Amino acid sequence: MSRLSRADRPYDIVLFGATGFVGVLTAEYLAAHAPEGLRWAIAGRSAEKLERLRESLPGGDGVGVLEADVADPASMRRLAEHARVVATTVGPYVTYGEDLVAACADTGADYLDLSGEPEFVDLTYVRHDARARETGARLVHACGFDSVPHDLGAYFTVQQLPQEVPLTVDGFVTADAMFSGGTFASALNQFARGRQMLAAARDRARHEPRLMGRRALAPTGVPRFAKEVGSWAVPLPTIDPQIVKRSARALDRYGPDFRYRHFAAVRHLPVAVGGVAAMGALFTAAQLPPARRWMSGRLKPGEGPSPEKRAKSWFSVRFVGEGGGRRVFTEVAGGDPGYDETAKMFAESALSLAFDDLPPTAGQVTTAVAMGDALIERLRAAGITFRVAATR
Ligand SMILES: NC(=O)c1ccc[n+]([C@@H]2O[C@H](COP(=O)([O-])OP(=O)(O)OC[C@H]3O[C@@H](n4cnc5c(N)ncnc54)[C@H](OP(=O)(O)O)[C@@H]3O)[C@@H](O)[C@H]2O)c1
Repeated sequence: MSRLSRADRPYDIVLFGATGFVGVLTAEYLAAHAPEGLRWAIAGRSAEKLERLRESLPGGDGVGVLEADVADPASMRRLAEHARVVATTVGPYVTYGEDLVAACADTGADYLDLSGEPEFVDLTYVRHDARARETGARLVHACGFDSVPHDLGAYFTVQQLPQEVPLTVDGFVTADAMFSGGTFASALNQFARGRQMLAAARDRARHEPRLMGRRALAPTGVPRFAKEVGSWAVPLPTIDPQIVKRSARALDRYGPDFRYRHFAAVRHLPVAVGGVAAMGALFTAAQLPPARRWMSGRLKPGEGPSPEKRAKSWFSVRFVGEGGGRRVFTEVAGGDPGYDETAKMFAESALSLAFDDLPPTAGQVTTAVAMGDALIERLRAAGITFRVAATR
């Protein structure tokens, strides 16, 4: 299917999972920032919830409504056939997400999600990347706080450094924020699937072509006091370093030998130690089904931090890049990372895929590879900071 035939589809963007916590915020963002003439629809499994949401949106009369349930693969196909771009918040993605990826890859619809689940991303690469390349579909995972600030921040940092020399970039994340029931459920699910995650990573490694003549690595760092940012640095084993590494593999601008390390930055040592201990306890408890069930009951899907709490939340990711005799300090920063800014990043990514003049890409691609500069410009205009703090 050619890109041209996609222009005939009834909607530019379909937002699936529009009635969930991030879904509603994304729908509100799109309604408030929709460019003139945007043809978009909200989709989900409950007609009643969708109708209530549509009525609450400014300009809701012009917003389409599509019923779809992940348990019905034909409805996933209908979503893909109705849209140039499908954005989904329906997670945990490893449980609910694959049929929609398959439908988008097969029909040539662009696809984006909020998955921070490495197992899911590796599995869709192995099963759907090749078909998406044939149809021209772009499959872009991790279009929220996982991993937009880190992926685009590393990309932005690389652009401040000399070309064609070995480069190293370290990212240091600081945030003050709460999470939602949906995020908590996805995290618990992921913690319980360590074995499957490793198997999916190995399978991907068997399928992924070798990088010829260049290197792009994302080694796990070691805990240390990082005097360059004045904080304790604790390695963060999220999906973000993997995404940055994939951008570096795809883009020659990252140089012949690129290395990225990803850390949480914590000012006081006891807080760093406490954070590691709490994460370890959560990971251990997630291995035991009764403990997992009990924890899931603490924060229900659909629930999340209040507008007041979100208004006080913030994030900052500082990067230190080095190469060719130059050292650069950059920062990506904004408000509530998990929800308000995630909805903004997600909606702007969907708009970018639908309307920006982007490099020709297809298959599983990262935000930096698919949208790069265009998305940075959109996010800056929407209030997210990308800045060079210092160069040496
Ligand atoms: N850092 C990040 O990038 C980031 C940030 C935030 C969230 N996330 C991820 O985004 C996802 C959503 O989070 P959330 O807090 O918005 O979760 P949520 O409130 O639980 O929303 C989940 C959505 O999925 C829908 N859904 C569930 N089962 C479905 C089915 N069988 N068919 C169709 N739709 C179904 C729900 O529909 P109903 O409304 O009908 O129940 C709801 O719209 C999670 O995976 C989370 O981890 C990532």
